[in-house]
Amino acid sequence: MNSKKVPKNNMDKKIAVVNGDGIGPEVTAQSIKVLNTIALEFDHQFRFAHALMGADAIDKTGNPLPDETVAICKQSDAILFGAIGHPKYDNDPSAKVRPEQGLLKLRKELELFANIRPINTYASLAHLSPLKTKQLQGVDFIIFRELTGGIYFGKRSLNEDQTFATDECAYHSYEIERVAHLAFKSAQTRRKKLTLIDKANVLETSRLWRKVVQSLASQYPDVSVDYMFVDNAAMQIIINPAQFDVVLTENMFGDIISDEASVLSGSLGLLPSASIGNGSALFEPIHGSYPQATGKDIANPLGSVLSAALMLDHFNLYTEANLVREAVNWTLTHSFVSKDIDPINNYGTAAIGDLIADYIKRNNKKELSSNATLNASTII
Ligand code: IPM
Ligand code: MN
Repeated sequence: MNSKKVPKNNMDKKIAVVNGDGIGPEVTAQSIKVLNTIALEFDHQFRFAHALMGADAIDKTGNPLPDETVAICKQSDAILFGAIGHPKYDNDPSAKVRPEQGLLKLRKELELFANIRPINTYASLAHLSPLKTKQLQGVDFIIFRELTGGIYFGKRSLNEDQTFATDECAYHSYEIERVAHLAFKSAQTRRKKLTLIDKANVLETSRLWRKVVQSLASQYPDVSVDYMFVDNAAMQIIINPAQFDVVLTENMFGDIISDEASVLSGSLGLLPSASIGNGSALFEPIHGSYPQATGKDIANPLGSVLSAALMLDHFNLYTEANLVREAVNWTLTHSFVSKDIDPINNYGTAAIGDLIADYIKRNNKKELSSNATLNASTII
């Protein structure tokens, strides 16, 4: 008689939820819905703790990143983040406090040194892409952007009469090494090609990046490495994006090229990202706060839901993560899509979240496999 149960892999995870600004709260609510459904279906426990950041936090506390938020994030296994930014700060260059400072400080506090942005395309959305369908074939790459160094965090200055300003771009080799190792390892699981994007013909920091990456390459003999200047890369992403597998780059170049690459799929609203370091990791859609859509239930929740799938990957819950991705694909192929994808026949943010949650309930393969075992053991 075989009374052995299916081996259980139940998880108990603390997740900090940082809704942030604009459409952040409404898209994040869909991810929570999806994560709660996964928890229920697969017997996990996800405990959510909300925390403030960005313009929302400035309005409520005067601080874009209250200490309490840092503490909640540090005590969590992962952070689900919505979006940051508000137009009232964008056109005021003399604003002393800015929402974005919250996110930058959180990245630094948690040492989230690697930002990972996968770029995929979906056949059902090819008509929305700015590129021709032919150029989209085989597009599947992943950007590793260094996130806690470079010009974002260098010394800044503004002279007294406000006629001269500087922003320093600085890198230590250890900062390059740690993100480069992650990129090489990722390449080993993919098509084994790594492209370092830099401006080594001009910048000293870029030459250091090349030197460090070249010196690490011998540890990854199965990965072929090439180097591309960022201006050329900006063009290659448009004319031949299928050539890329793993892209590695510094903070600011990564910011720019990842926005460029994100539109290849046809909607900026679809792209997820993960920021990882030595402690808790942060997951967020790459779209911004989209203030014009705030509270209208029209924002695309898929970037956030796919970020939640990356969080599940991070917890090693691959079956669960893949089921979420399968559910997202199902909504896309059945045209259960938001206004950015179909301006005429579209579904609201919350309705798409419900559809994804329903799909997960209906297609929970774990349920099938445990039932099968149950039946087998009853027969024996
Ligand atoms: C991003 C954003 C941020 C960045 C802003 C909001 C500070 O654009 O995550 O790409 O520039 O890193
Ligand atoms: Mn950006």
